[in-house]
Amino acid sequence: LSTPALVIDAGALERNLATMATARPGARLRPHVKAHKCTALAREQYRHGHHGFTCATVREVEGMVAAGLGDDLLLANEVVDTTRLARLGALLDRARITVAVDSEATIDAAARAGLDEVLVDVNVGLPRCGCAPEAAGELAELARARGLTVRGVMGYEGHVVGLADRDTRAEQLRVCLERLHAAHRLVGGELVSAGGTGTYDLHDDRTEVQAGSYALMDTAYAGLGLPFEYAARVVATVISVSSGFAVGDAGLKAFGMDHGNPTVEGGRLWFCSDEHTTFTPEHPVVAGQRITMLPAHIDPTMTLHERAHLVDADGHVLEVWPIDLRGW
Ligand SMILES: Cc1ncc(COP(=O)(O)O)c(C=O)c1O
Repeated sequence: LSTPALVIDAGALERNLATMATARPGARLRPHVKAHKCTALAREQYRHGHHGFTCATVREVEGMVAAGLGDDLLLANEVVDTTRLARLGALLDRARITVAVDSEATIDAAARAGLDEVLVDVNVGLPRCGCAPEAAGELAELARARGLTVRGVMGYEGHVVGLADRDTRAEQLRVCLERLHAAHRLVGGELVSAGGTGTYDLHDDRTEVQAGSYALMDTAYAGLGLPFEYAARVVATVISVSSGFAVGDAGLKAFGMDHGNPTVEGGRLWFCSDEHTTFTPEHPVVAGQRITMLPAHIDPTMTLHERAHLVDADGHVLEVWPIDLRGW
């Protein structure tokens, strides 16, 4: 392997997918592909029984359709660019596509793009997208008046999924769900879509959970004590050794850094620069030696790599998976 190289431990991935599929079988999970941006990995999730997927970008939806994984795709994000959205309208003969709306503008864009189905996005406490719960019914009526089918509601509790204490997570989730269920009573429809890796087992059966990070994990989520293992690592090569420290050839351009520095396995990281990580190894290292590093945030890490190498327990490469859902 040329480094930096993104590797996926096939055994750990399989165990993570199986653990989730047991906890939330079939349609109780709508895996979010933004967490890996890889149709080969999505195909593994499909094989584990999840046939509906969550997407964050038009590009992700298009890529999933092209890969034959378009049974039931939810674009869980607002799009007002009608030109871009019309690319999805043109795919409806090959796929089922639902888009989130939270305003008159997004409903108008969906209708003009030739889409059939929407879902009302509700603000459950994260200051991002979503309408006020009390406005959801009116928006649903507006969408229906434009000829759109309203499948239900979604509300992503992104401010809750990473809370370290499980009881606090559960308590805060209850507040979010009160808002979401109030909106659902006004909107109707079969779908209540919400949640992430940190709340996957706190939702009841009424919710389809949109978790994504559980498949590959990262050090931020590992702090929550969830039953998912690290399955993604970046392999780097030691390129320089000095007294008291060494340098690997994977830097901040190989890792999403918004959740903090990556972790060097078998070393203490000092700092990352563009193409370097300076660290103190636990045991002496030499130039040319390989080290492995764990990302703090998996989603933005995946998007920095063109491919992932699926490896067995001995580190042999089994397959090379393109990270083919990158871009917008
Ligand atoms: C809309 C939406 N749903 C679900 C998720 C869940 O992701 P994760 O599994 O990383 O918690 C995210 C992540 O940011 C999201 O933006």
